[in-house]
Amino acid sequence: MVRFGVLASGNGSNLQAILDAMAAGEIAGDLRIVIANQPTAKALQRAENAGKKALCIPHRDYASRAAFDAKLVSTLKAEQVDWVILAGFMRLLTKGFLDEFPNRVVNLHPSLLPAFPGVNAGQQALDYGVKLTGCTVHLVSEGMDSGPVIAQAAVRVRDDDDEQSLMSRLHQAEHQLLVEVVKGICESRVEFRPGAPGERAKVRFLRRSSVNGGP
Ligand code: GRF
Repeated sequence: MVRFGVLASGNGSNLQAILDAMAAGEIAGDLRIVIANQPTAKALQRAENAGKKALCIPHRDYASRAAFDAKLVSTLKAEQVDWVILAGFMRLLTKGFLDEFPNRVVNLHPSLLPAFPGVNAGQQALDYGVKLTGCTVHLVSEGMDSGPVIAQAAVRVRDDDDEQSLMSRLHQAEHQLLVEVVKGICESRVEFRPGAPGERAKVRFLRRSSVNGGP
């Protein structure tokens, strides 16, 4: 069974979507540990409520980014984690961390990347005036919100949207998409495709029907 860990910093509604899908028997994986870098992260409570191991590792307790990441790595490795899911984890990870889980760190972002990376993706979409935005689940590479796309879902922008209303629909889309991808990872349906020299690496996400030979 695929073993994975979740890193979060705040509310943890995406973690909750994973926990709910696991409770419903929809994800055939083993969530070994949830780690938050903020003691107040609601994600920790959500993990505990679901009977999962939850640990706070405050980044402020570490002198450097490298030292903090090394602690994350040793904690995840002690749980024999194969994949790491960033569900609202607001810290950039170092190369040292990423090298320990090559092409097995997954992030979620509330825009159709490469559009609107970074913070306030919903407001960025409104400011630009796009009519369609969405969310992206991608592998993490060095750099912010970059790395091969695993899956995306589109969300229409309404004329009367403000940031709150748009983000609320984006969050709903994120919950579904992240669960779909975690399910796929646990069923070995997410394949990393290294790029030829000078080309981007890509990900093939096999939908269930193609695995079963369906249409
Ligand atoms: C999500 O919008 C995610 O895309 C971003 O952080 C947010 C986390 O939300 N990276 P939650 O903590 O899962 O509710």
